[in-house]
Formats: sequence, C-alpha cells, structure tokens
Amino acid sequence: MAYVRYFAASDLGEVMRIFLAGLDEAIPPSDLLSFSALWPNGQIVACDPTGSVVGAVFGTVHGNKSRVMAIAVDGNRRGGGIATRLLLRFMAESVARGAGTVTLELRPANQAAHAFYKKMGFVETAYLENHYSDGGPCIVMSAPAARLS
Ligand SMILES: CC(C)(COP(=O)(O)OP(=O)(O)OC[C@H]1O[C@@H](n2cnc3c(N)ncnc32)[C@H](O)[C@@H]1OP(=O)(O)O)[C@@H](O)C(=O)NCCC(=O)NCCS
Repeated sequence: MAYVRYFAASDLGEVMRIFLAGLDEAIPPSDLLSFSALWPNGQIVACDPTGSVVGAVFGTVHGNKSRVMAIAVDGNRRGGGIATRLLLRFMAESVARGAGTVTLELRPANQAAHAFYKKMGFVETAYLENHYSDGGPCIVMSAPAARLS
C-alpha cells in the first residue's frame, strides 16, 4: 500500500524520472525546487512500502487558487489509486493554505488524465490554444478544493 508525504530535495532524482517518463511537457528540476521553496506543503510524493517514490504532485498557490503543475505515477503502478491519494492530499493542503479552488491544465488527447480529473470532481472551464511549448492546446479544469466526501 502506498503512502504519501511531503517532497524532500533528496527525492528530486526519482521525481524527475517519473515526470520525464510520464509527462509530455518537460519541467526543469529548478522549477520543482522553486515550487517547493514557495510552498513546501504543496509538493507531495507517494512511496511504496519500501520507501521508493512511485508518484508525485507538484503545484503552486496564489491567493484563493492553487494549481496542479505536474502529477504522474510510475507506469507500472498506475490504476491502483496512487494519483487519487496524491490529488486528495494536494487538495487538503490547498484548503489548509486558504485556497478554495484547484485548477489544472491537460492536453485534450490525454484521456486517462481527463477521466481521472473528472472522477475527482473537476469540470472543464476553458480551452486555450497554443498553451504548450509545441503549440498544442490545453483544456483548463477546476474543482473546489474542499471535498464534501
Ligand atoms: C493520470 C494518472 C496520474 C492517473 O494515475 P493513477 O494512479 O493510475 O490513477 P488512479 O488509480 O488514482 O485512478 C483514479 C481514477 O481515474 C480514472 N483513470 C485513471 N487512469 C485511467 C485510464 N487510463 N483510463 C480511464 N480512466 C482512468 C479512473 O476513473 C480511476 O478510477 P477507477 O480505478 O475506480 O476506475 C496516470 O495515468 C499518469 O501518471 N499518467 C501520465 C502522466 C499524466 O498524464 N499526468 C497528467 C498530466 S495533465
């Protein structure tokens, strides 16, 4: 059973490995460290029982909104509820920081992520052309940070 905890700088290599394998938009490690410096409690990793990092969520908070900047789970650990735990913890940390809304972006072709976010209560709020570095569009989704159940 995986557990979640705050990111530590010593996790950076494992988090980068998971993000590089799972995300199609590269995030520089320096950005991850900046997010962590600005909001330590908003950067969460999931670990297997041996302590190995198997997933992570990174984000930012501004005023009453938090934003998921990256979330991914190891390819061979997907489908087991790990991203659900990560995002629930991220949402709880958002509430603790005073954010009422969580936002995120995803590529329209990313059906797994879309189904995941929809299940987590996110709804589509916008469609932005030329969002990604390759010129691709994104769907913006948002949800209340405080969950009723
Ligand atoms: C999207 C991602 C983070 C989901 O991680 P996960 O740990 O497998 O997700 P969970 O097991 O918590 O899934 C929760 C729910 O999401 C939905 N879901 C997750 N993966 C899905 C898939 N491949 N197809 C359809 N629905 C999916 C299901 O409703 C699932 O509930 P269920 O298991 O009861 O059916 C994972 O697929 C991933 O790392 N993808 C690559 C990185 C990525 O695309 N990140 C998002 C960028 S915006």
